[in-house]
Amino acid sequence: MREESMRRKLHNTIQELKGNIRVFSRVRPLLGDELLGMDSDVPQHINFPDPDKKILELEKLAGITPNEVCESVASVRRGSNNKYEFQFDRVFPPSSTQTEVFHEISQLVQSALDGYNVCIFAYGQTGSGKTFTMEGRGTGDNRGMIPRSVEKIFATRDDLLSKGWIVSYLVSFLEIYNETIRDLLVQSRSQADSTKHDIKLVGPNTNEVFVTDLTTVEVQHQDAVQVLLKRALENRSVAETKCNERSSRSHSIFRMKITGSNSVTAESCVGLLNLVDLAGSERLKESGSQGQRLKETQNINKSLANLSNVIMALANKETHVPYRNSKLTHLLQNCLGGSSKMLMFVNVSPKEECFQETLNSLRFATQVNQCNIGQAQKKVK
Ligand SMILES: Nc1ncnc2c1ncn2[C@@H]1O[C@H](COP(=O)(O)OP(=O)(O)O)[C@@H](O)[C@H]1O
Ligand SMILES: [Mg+2]
Repeated sequence: MREESMRRKLHNTIQELKGNIRVFSRVRPLLGDELLGMDSDVPQHINFPDPDKKILELEKLAGITPNEVCESVASVRRGSNNKYEFQFDRVFPPSSTQTEVFHEISQLVQSALDGYNVCIFAYGQTGSGKTFTMEGRGTGDNRGMIPRSVEKIFATRDDLLSKGWIVSYLVSFLEIYNETIRDLLVQSRSQADSTKHDIKLVGPNTNEVFVTDLTTVEVQHQDAVQVLLKRALENRSVAETKCNERSSRSHSIFRMKITGSNSVTAESCVGLLNLVDLAGSERLKESGSQGQRLKETQNINKSLANLSNVIMALANKETHVPYRNSKLTHLLQNCLGGSSKMLMFVNVSPKEECFQETLNSLRFATQVNQCNIGQAQKKVK
């Protein structure tokens, strides 16, 4: 039994040395019609120059209009030939498989199993591959990080049981649309439409929050998660008929609460694994938008900006962290900061016409990544 505690400690030390905030960038392949008229299926304006897979180079080829906002990004090293170089903890080129990507995050799933709170985000413009990364497609090789995380969690179950642990896995799945929480695991649509959800503190002396009247499902087998993902998809598509492409304008949070207790060693642990598919980060113009669309735009811009404010405040060790300025960070407040671990995927579209949005996304990611460096250095002291 001591052996397991030692392993947990060691694993956590390694994770801390790597930094508690990490950033990965993933470029999806060109698909379908996007390939028409192209010489190859790899984007020509995105390069992966280093063998260590940490650098992504964006190249402004002839014909792309320069943009002043991005020219002034100090953190971006701009070399000759209109090249912008970005460095992340890991860069995944278009040919990367879901298996390769999961390999890099599986250590964080292990941390959740060990009783830490973990948040994995997918950030990027609509169509860049966030949902493909998180949920994936089907049950085969293209299945995403959510089903693979659940599989990993179940793969350790027998071992834990044999060591005297009693474990339980509780899943919830919700979306935040226009600062309103919607339960994606409800059985009936009328229930989803009529139930109002609030975020409340679990108790007086904790920062742990819960969502009122939210469906939580105890998962007994790894395959059950596919049923839940399907139910969530149906609940989302119902909402979509009322407001098309709604899913790209909402954040979704898949959460697995892992509880373990061991009567032999008197140990217990609770870990929360959050897999967050963020709303599309494209800069939507507020001017010209009206009514519902304007409200959506403002809410997305506000909540994504607040997410980065929270990360900055944590990195700078500020006394006030503005968790409560948006539903997203309020809900995740006990999973960001402290001993929690965070990873952000910045998903990138390979389309050349998306150059500007790609630059914006990579810029955002670079800011987040700098928090990583700050924190990692502190640990080494
Ligand atoms: N790595 C990938 N390999 C193959 N297809 C992908 C990949 N990433 C995304 N896609 C496909 O590209 C399209 C857009 O991806 P999606 O995940 O829906 O984007 P987002 O959620 O960011 O709007 C989808 O049809 C998706 O299946
Ligand atoms: Mg999506």
